[in-house]
Amino acid sequence: MLAYEYANIDHQQLLFDWANDEETRRNSYNSGIIKWKDHINWFEKKLKDPLCKIYIFKFEKSPCGMVRIEKREDETIIGVSVSKDFRGRGLASLMIEMASKDYVKQVKKERIIAYIKGENAISIKSFEKAGYVEFDEVMINDEVSKKYAYGI
Ligand SMILES: CC(C)(COP(=O)(O)OP(=O)(O)OC[C@H]1O[C@@H](n2cnc3c(N)ncnc32)[C@H](O)[C@@H]1OP(=O)(O)O)[C@@H](O)C(=O)NCCC(=O)NCCS
Repeated sequence: MLAYEYANIDHQQLLFDWANDEETRRNSYNSGIIKWKDHINWFEKKLKDPLCKIYIFKFEKSPCGMVRIEKREDETIIGVSVSKDFRGRGLASLMIEMASKDYVKQVKKERIIAYIKGENAISIKSFEKAGYVEFDEVMINDEVSKKYAYGI
């Protein structure tokens, strides 16, 4: 069974480890390794932000991945990562769908946007399966990225 809770300070190390996963860094827009000091400052800020929700997912009680949805300037954006040992089981699309539904219901009734690198076929498939629809293409750091939207 797949379940989630909102992140709290106890998840600091877990999120740090997941953030520095090789594939996750490669698919992110800032690809450098994250330093512990930067992580704790960042995480403290996110925990205080009422328009940022970090969902920690568990599969059969084991932490298996995360979704973050947050309001940035004029857009609400989403990111996802599945823990290495849990990839390839179709969990990402379920996580994206559960978190997106919760955010719209509990936090803010607003369109959620995913920015996905054009080459990240697995992620594209996961977002499409979760109900996200492609609506734009933009260049970010000289790379083609697709914009997907959920709701409204
Ligand atoms: C992207 C990510 C979240 C996907 O999670 P996952 O639960 O392992 O996804 P799955 O393995 O179930 O794959 C999703 C779909 O992509 C398909 N897929 C797998 N490899 C593929 C490939 N090389 N090309 C195309 N599709 C592929 C799967 O078959 C599956 O489709 P299906 O459900 O129709 O069978 C995970 O790989 C991850 O955490 N990557 C690092 C972080 C990241 O890239 N985040 C997204 C940034 S936008």
